[in-house]
Amino acid sequence: MGNSIRRVLAVETSCDDTSVALITDQGFVEACCSANQDLAHQPFGGIVPEIASRNHSETILPLIETTLKKSGKGWSEVDGLAVTSRPGLMGSLMVGVVTVKTLALAKKLPWIAVNHIEGHLLAPLLKDAEYSAPPGFDFPYLALAISGGHSHLFKVEGVGRYKLIGRTVDDAAGEAFDKFAARLGLGFPGGVQVDKLAQTGDPKRFAFPRGMIHEANYDFSFSGLKTAGARALEGLSHDERRAAVHDLCASFQEAIVDVLLAKMERAAEASDLGRVVLTGGVSANSRLRERASDMARRRGWQLAVPPLRYCTDNAAMIGLAGVIRLNRGERSELSLGPRADSAPDDFQ
Ligand code: KG4
Ligand code: ZN
Repeated sequence: MGNSIRRVLAVETSCDDTSVALITDQGFVEACCSANQDLAHQPFGGIVPEIASRNHSETILPLIETTLKKSGKGWSEVDGLAVTSRPGLMGSLMVGVVTVKTLALAKKLPWIAVNHIEGHLLAPLLKDAEYSAPPGFDFPYLALAISGGHSHLFKVEGVGRYKLIGRTVDDAAGEAFDKFAARLGLGFPGGVQVDKLAQTGDPKRFAFPRGMIHEANYDFSFSGLKTAGARALEGLSHDERRAAVHDLCASFQEAIVDVLLAKMERAAEASDLGRVVLTGGVSANSRLRERASDMARRRGWQLAVPPLRYCTDNAAMIGLAGVIRLNRGERSELSLGPRADSAPDDFQ
């Protein structure tokens, strides 16, 4: 291809997962290693920012070594660096950004700061020995980026060309899952547990609200559902809750999936792109995947869903955005620091 940056080492520390990846200019993931902090945060029922950043600082350097070793590559074969600089927890982002800037100086390598959501949007285009997007899948596509921290609907026209067409007006979809799971005493993060229990439950038993489903826009709202979930649980005794846990999870999950897919279907129809993507931690949800593939089949649309390892937070997706941008000649300045929100020109 004649790209001068053939291989990038990428770092992701925006929230509670420390992740390092080695990726080529063809989008091939040579290694991606992540350290999960769930156990450290579980006793608190949510992410504790101080614990997250301390764990990142302890993990990041050994994880870089592990990733290089796993890929069989040395520093002499790394041509550039990429790191998530926004949006996220400031203390967590700081660890990744400072590490990558230091490596850029020490190893004399170009580096680039990447928006975390951009990573999720490009994740379906990653490749490895077991995964690649459906044949012919390319820009433009419609992407539903849903996780613990964000729920956005984007029209992705190319790298750096992201039109935000819808977003949550209150809580993120993953947050709704996690809060409901916490109330049920299912542990943190709760989305996976709700998904598991829902598999043998009745999605019609409890009537939960579908916020904003009929409004003529592509925005979401999950706070009404969160309140309805809490009320439903308050109305049940401990034993009743235990007996109904599968139905509760299935009904709650169905309400989220209904809203997400209704908006996505309408947006895809209006934009006439014929290509849709599910990405972000919540896209790991089995019911959402099943119903999204039914929808795509029924509509004749191409659906790309990254495998679980690239749905949840990971450095490979950051590396993909990074390697493309570096090969376009983009570089970040050493004066650049982390920021809690996206930059004004990240999205249109
Ligand atoms: O993208 P991600 O790893 O981190 C953020 O950037 O937030 O997403 C984490 C979120 C959590 O809220 C978690 O409960 C949710 O994704 N999640 C799920 C499932 N797996 C993870 N939600 C529903 N069903 C799942 N199977
Ligand atoms: Zn994320």
